[in-house]
Amino acid sequence: MKVVLLGPPGAGKGTQCKRIIDKYGLLHISSGDIFRAEISAGSELGKKAKDYIDAGQLVPDDVVISMMVGAIEKASGKCVLDGFPRTVVQAEELDKALAANDDRIDAVVNLVVDDAEVASRLTKRRSCPDCGAVYHLDFLKPKVGGKCDNDGVSLVQRDDDKPEVVLNRLKTYHQLTEPLVGYYNGGNSPVLEISAAKAIDDVTTEILKKLSDLQLG
Ligand code: AP5
Repeated sequence: MKVVLLGPPGAGKGTQCKRIIDKYGLLHISSGDIFRAEISAGSELGKKAKDYIDAGQLVPDDVVISMMVGAIEKASGKCVLDGFPRTVVQAEELDKALAANDDRIDAVVNLVVDDAEVASRLTKRRSCPDCGAVYHLDFLKPKVGGKCDNDGVSLVQRDDDKPEVVLNRLKTYHQLTEPLVGYYNGGNSPVLEISAAKAIDDVTTEILKKLSDLQLG
């Protein structure tokens, strides 16, 4: 089972991926998380990606496609893709790579929420630099203020959650990523439209219900 999560920055893709994974036992493959790990490690890939991410732009397709197709092939069939594909070119290349193995995307979950809501969510997001757990200062608070529930490490704000970078990320989303909804609607993978402006648990309930209706196993 392979599921793609679409939606603007801050729509709740990472938050909801965790819950889909818990339910279906899938692997979470997040292009953003992979880039952040590469940047922390100071790798060549991280150095290539950093300037784009800091500016709220997309990392070039060729860099992302080779990194992600390799990670997906290693996941041996069961994964949720978070943040990839993010352009029509990436989606076409992913489809080609999957088709070569007689495989395809089973469902596309599209989180729909407006720009004002996501901009406000991102300013209050905090995450753990070690394990990647994500919190919100109002809606998903850590048990102890400022510390990760999993490992007690101090939470940080992502550099690309600064207001001016968020504006660029939203612009990039509307220009390059939103057209993917049309791409998938014209293909064979069912697209599940989810209203993501609701409370976190209510969004999860709607996603799991719609996935269950597809009877993917
Ligand atoms: P990436 O890390 O993928 O960032 P993103 O898509 O902008 O998504 P976010 O991680 O910001 O948000 P999310 O939707 O996961 O929301 P979350 O669950 O955290 O990518 C970062 C950068 O890497 C890109 O800008 C680009 O440069 C590069 N990149 C990555 N993939 C690429 C690709 N394929 N091609 C090219 N470049 C690529 O939730 C946000 C906050 O809201 C949290 O605090 C959460 O607790 C809270 N929240 C969640 N749901 C709700 C709710 N229902 N109500 C209230 N609060 C909520």
